[in-house]
Amino acid sequence: MQGLADMTDHDDAREPGVDDPEGPPSDRAVLYRESRGIAYVTLNRPGKLNALNPEVFRLLDESLTRFVESPDARVAILHGSGRAFAAGADIEHYLELSVVEYAGFMRVGNAVQQRVVECPKPVIAAVHGYALGGGLELALCCDLLVAEPDAELGLPEARLGLLPGGGGTQRLPRLVGSMRAAEMLLTGRRISGDEAVTWGCALSSAGHESALAAAEALAERIVRQAPVALQMAKVVLRAGRDAPLSSGLALEQAVGTLLYATDDASEGVRAFVEKRPPRWQGS
Ligand code: COA
Repeated sequence: MQGLADMTDHDDAREPGVDDPEGPPSDRAVLYRESRGIAYVTLNRPGKLNALNPEVFRLLDESLTRFVESPDARVAILHGSGRAFAAGADIEHYLELSVVEYAGFMRVGNAVQQRVVECPKPVIAAVHGYALGGGLELALCCDLLVAEPDAELGLPEARLGLLPGGGGTQRLPRLVGSMRAAEMLLTGRRISGDEAVTWGCALSSAGHESALAAAEALAERIVRQAPVALQMAKVVLRAGRDAPLSSGLALEQAVGTLLYATDDASEGVRAFVEKRPPRWQGS
């Protein structure tokens, strides 16, 4: 089996994943590669619509470590190979699990999701095809979610007699409102990418040939920003979601002042005045 290191590609612009015309197809459940400051993390169980199982979570965790520790990658794009982003947790795997093991599986999934949420660098979900159950929940943990117009997003767990276990009952209503989330949860209705944009839980891929291409365009813009400023923006945004406005504003002031003291802030201001592109040190 091919190792992660073998699949890292630092300076070409080939399409990632199994469709890579110059690389052999891989049976690895998650692929990782880097190109021009962007880390591509590809869910790669196309035959099972990228259903999430313990191996996927393990490799996702590994990919996140690789991304965080990379001196080159500044932003990650999470996407799926084949015809889906991810159709949720691997239902066949549930046949083998006791209640205690199910709880453990949920914990592992949640820990990986939390790593995405707390990742010091931005993560973009590029959603095409299905993003259902845990697939949608994973995408909702990313900083940005780009969806193709005909993507299908949903939380179908009630059809299985289950409850979403990765924040679907919590993150989704905070993004789209309680009534819309309730409709999705209680009826299993899948919304289109276009509806997700209208509802405010996705960005449109319009103007690009795919969600992946739209995510790349976003990533290329992100790469030009100061890394520490991005990290701090993530921290303040995240803290602000659960905080009263006054606490969020106080945090913004404190973090903003600290950021003003960084080398990158000096460089950014100087570069603007000198009418040249900034050279970020990440310090
Ligand atoms: N877990 C395990 N396997 C899954 C899966 C999942 N969540 N979703 C799809 N698959 C598998 C199917 O079993 C099938 O495998 P097979 O070819 O070995 O039989 C393969 O992926 C293709 O799926 P299929 O159902 O044939 O495709 P479709 O286009 O007819 O339907 C979906 C697509 C997404 C509507 C349908 O697969 C589905 O409803 N999946 C389950 C979604 C779900 O409930 N997610 C929440 C899980 S908690």
